[in-house]
Amino acid sequence: MRVLVVGGGGREHALCWSLSASPLCDALYCAPGNAGIADVATCVPISADDIDGLIKFSKDEKIDFVVVGPEAPLVAGLVDKLTHEGIKAFGPSAKAAQLEGSKGFMKDLLQRHNIPTAWYGRFKETDAAKAFISEKGAPIVVKADGLAAGKGVILCQTVDEAHAAIDTMMADKAFGDAGDEVVIEEFLQGEEASFFAIVDGEHALPLAAAQDHKAVGEGDTGPNTGGMGAYSPAPIVDAAMQERIMREIILPTVRGMAAEGCPFKGVLFAGLMIDNGVPKTLEFNVRFGDPECQALMARLKSDLLPALVAAADGQLGHFDLRWHDDAAIVVVMAANGYPGTPEKGTVIEGLDEAAKVDNVTVFHAGTKTEARDGKSAVVANGGRVLGVTATGKTVTEAQARAYQAVDAIKWPGGFCRRDIGWRAAAREKAS
Ligand code: AMP
Ligand code: GLY
Repeated sequence: MRVLVVGGGGREHALCWSLSASPLCDALYCAPGNAGIADVATCVPISADDIDGLIKFSKDEKIDFVVVGPEAPLVAGLVDKLTHEGIKAFGPSAKAAQLEGSKGFMKDLLQRHNIPTAWYGRFKETDAAKAFISEKGAPIVVKADGLAAGKGVILCQTVDEAHAAIDTMMADKAFGDAGDEVVIEEFLQGEEASFFAIVDGEHALPLAAAQDHKAVGEGDTGPNTGGMGAYSPAPIVDAAMQERIMREIILPTVRGMAAEGCPFKGVLFAGLMIDNGVPKTLEFNVRFGDPECQALMARLKSDLLPALVAAADGQLGHFDLRWHDDAAIVVVMAANGYPGTPEKGTVIEGLDEAAKVDNVTVFHAGTKTEARDGKSAVVANGGRVLGVTATGKTVTEAQARAYQAVDAIKWPGGFCRRDIGWRAAAREKAS
């Protein structure tokens, strides 16, 4: 099978790393890829948002199967267009991708099908939005309706902060058109977890759960990022919790989408808040998490490719996936300046040394290869740059290996958090 992966982040490196090991994969391409992906796939210089370019490449190269990593091309209809051209693809249609593309769509669907989530209101007018906030009081959460690269959520401790958030989104257009409509919702307390299932329109196959660290600073402080690290399994999602999440959240969503004429295929990623054993949906994403995917791929024992093909074919009914019992952790190394303006072009050394640490794989995100002093060098080319991924019998063991590898990387232009996995490690110490 000739396979194309769309995207160029750490998630796509992990997907290419898994897919390249499949005996069913005869040729693997990645658009646009990065310096690390080039080791396992042929990178082609087509942006993940260039829908026409991706279609043309898939036709010219006789691609059999396309795996779409990021949300933007899904929301823009890449899978619909590939399907129209007779090319099989893993990922939702544009209509089904509205689960991530419009928070209002997602909240209304959950409400119609009695799926647990925070109470909310949808607003297109500033005055009505502010009046709703004054009525409900704080703390309260203000969200831009559309895609805002993970930044369109403002957690407000006071009514004044929430009113200011409305002005930032709706009047100042801080998130562009994404903020033309806002969702205002209940501030939920509890512990967060990322839950993943692959879905074929009708059946859902749970994957391992994970937890990520969104804040840029140690102790979960500072501005939110796309994710500074993650680990799997998530101790809070035991077998009973997984069963409950499938029964109360994932399966009713899959059935609801099908009943409403937009069956969901692809990865359904539920961002959950779990409080006193009760899971509620914070958000849905329609793709693998980044960096959660890197931890999941490190733990996956089965061949990934047939599972993704079965999802695209509507054949997940009797499918099963096997996982290593070991824990996996990902420590993200980001370029100085991230999540603001990251410094580009700084040279990264020591990657070979890092990869020699037992049970460690270094996934690349924003990297590229450049000639420096007559030699080929890996340089930073984005915000999140590396995902140092390690496995171990426990999160604590995986954590020690990941930081040993981090310490082997010589990159003054970057930084990482030193406390990834702290919550799981503290649980392990206490037990
Ligand atoms: P989202 O992009 O919707 O996942 O929001 C980003 C982050 O904001 C989440 O991971 C949570 O940490 C936080 N968040 C979102 N919605 C809520 C909520 N209703 N209550 C508390 N925290 C929230
Ligand atoms: N790490 C969270 C996300 O991919 O949205």
